[in-house]
Amino acid sequence: MTPQITVLDAGGQYCHLIARKVRDLGIYAEVAPSETPVSELRGRRGIIISGGPASVYDPSSPTIDSALLTSGMPVLGICYGQQLMAHALGGLVQKGDHGEYGLAQLDIRSSDTILSGIEGRQQVWMSHRDLVTQAPDDFEVLASTETCAIAAMSSPKRGLFAVQFHPEVAHTPCGPTILKNFLFDVCGCQKDWDPAGQVQSVEDHIRAVAGDRNVFFFVSGGVDSTVAYTLCLKALGPERVHGTYVDTGLMREGETEFVRRNFERIGARSFQVADAKTRFLSALAIATDPEQKRHIVGEKFVDVQQQILESEHFLDGKWILGQGTIYPDTIESGGTAKADLIKTHHNRVAGIQKLIEEGRIIEPLSSFYKDEVRAIGRQLGLAPELLDRHPFPGPGLAIRCLCSETSGAPEKTADGFIIPVRSVGVQGDSRTYRSVLAIENFPPSAEDTARLINKLDRVNRVVVAIWTAAPIEKMRVEPAALTADRLDLLRRADAIVRNATKESGFDALTWQNPVILIPFGAGNDHNSVVLRPIDSVDGMTASAVRMPADLLESITSQLQITGIAGVFYDLTNKPPGTIEWE
Ligand code: XMP
Repeated sequence: MTPQITVLDAGGQYCHLIARKVRDLGIYAEVAPSETPVSELRGRRGIIISGGPASVYDPSSPTIDSALLTSGMPVLGICYGQQLMAHALGGLVQKGDHGEYGLAQLDIRSSDTILSGIEGRQQVWMSHRDLVTQAPDDFEVLASTETCAIAAMSSPKRGLFAVQFHPEVAHTPCGPTILKNFLFDVCGCQKDWDPAGQVQSVEDHIRAVAGDRNVFFFVSGGVDSTVAYTLCLKALGPERVHGTYVDTGLMREGETEFVRRNFERIGARSFQVADAKTRFLSALAIATDPEQKRHIVGEKFVDVQQQILESEHFLDGKWILGQGTIYPDTIESGGTAKADLIKTHHNRVAGIQKLIEEGRIIEPLSSFYKDEVRAIGRQLGLAPELLDRHPFPGPGLAIRCLCSETSGAPEKTADGFIIPVRSVGVQGDSRTYRSVLAIENFPPSAEDTARLINKLDRVNRVVVAIWTAAPIEKMRVEPAALTADRLDLLRRADAIVRNATKESGFDALTWQNPVILIPFGAGNDHNSVVLRPIDSVDGMTASAVRMPADLLESITSQLQITGIAGVFYDLTNKPPGTIEWE
């Protein structure tokens, strides 16, 4: 399908959100690198240039093909996109010393074109450092905020429009109207996109790519690989589609049975569980560092998969590999994302690179976003308990079971106890690996938590001590490895939390609900549990969610089992914490 709209990716997390919003309005949009030549954009009804963290004055900052702005195609610049447009057309962009991040009030001067139907004062979301201080010739300033004189500008006769704020985020309530104005009134787009209506054409595509070959999958039990598998099953029939699930021993309680049941239910006939628990556990016994754990899990996956490929003869010409890759994964591995490494993800393992290079791969979901995959799953009749699952990380419980090489005592400070257990955080675009501050009571607001972290350099996370078997000053961090016993303890704690949060309906209010085991104990109980319910849209940012007091009380009493010396509640947003502790 030729997209009506292309979103040019100027870095950061915004481009996918914009493309998703455009698709939500029923218009097929794709993301492309910002430098994409105009010759490759022919046939589009309009172009949107995304925001991004760079400054137009940095030598390595993303640019656009300058011919784009005189091509006659309507262009909407958002945030950095507005600055790029102004800079390219002779306007002035001023370097900001410190940025403007958060809510702002937009005063509209001219309810024209993209601002049509929006009047007076409107709440918008700003996230920028530089700003446009002089619009290019022929441009009219449409709106301003207190600190940003040119918050929206346009030159309708040149088909150019720009806003400094973010119409794609939920904090800008008039955002959908602005996007609609641009898409339908300015660009003349026609609705052409309904993911659930794509099932037939995806199945045709699968048949065409497979030809007379069969498809095999390494399935994870997650939404993406299950929907991709089901599509292949429908397109090719159960005899021609094989699935192997690798049991790493790092999954949650009951997961293998859940996956097996689901595959039986969708009519899979050729489905197999490969037991690799011992191999993963013995390789991980030496690992304490988070990145080392990810690396080992990634490597073991390659080993195990390679062995299965060979022993099952999947490498001969009769088979191709099916994968549940979704659209954002393809863009990130295509190298347009310019973000620093925070954590490595192993979604594409090196061992299957050969098949990819030979083109023996089918990725039926590679042009869909997560919510669209869910819509397709619903269309295929998959169970809601499968489709509405929280995301679960590839390395599984390995990165939720924290280890330590050393012992240490908590340190009392005026704000609480600094516990010498380090977890991963993200500040700016960089990774941090710091201790945790434990406080005694829930602070009145999220701002108070943020203030504590900003104040204490050594800390990137704040937890509340809900229950401890001994006073915190008597507890200690002890050396601990990733053992089968500790994983079993974490699995039990995780199951207790999962059952209670599901039953109460709290689970549906969160995006993810990790349970973490830390080697912080008292007496014969060597570990504590951390609860980390968060809300998020895409995992890039997240906010900590408070659970109802009675639910927390019930979970806490159920968690007082042998081996557990404390229950803590993580209040840290992302940033500065990451969602997972490792
Ligand atoms: P963080 O912890 O970076 O997580 O805030 C963002 C999202 O990514 C998931 N995650 C992973 N997924 N392999 C994965 O497949 C990994 O190594 C990994 N680390 C984090 C995390 O669960 C959250 O949804």
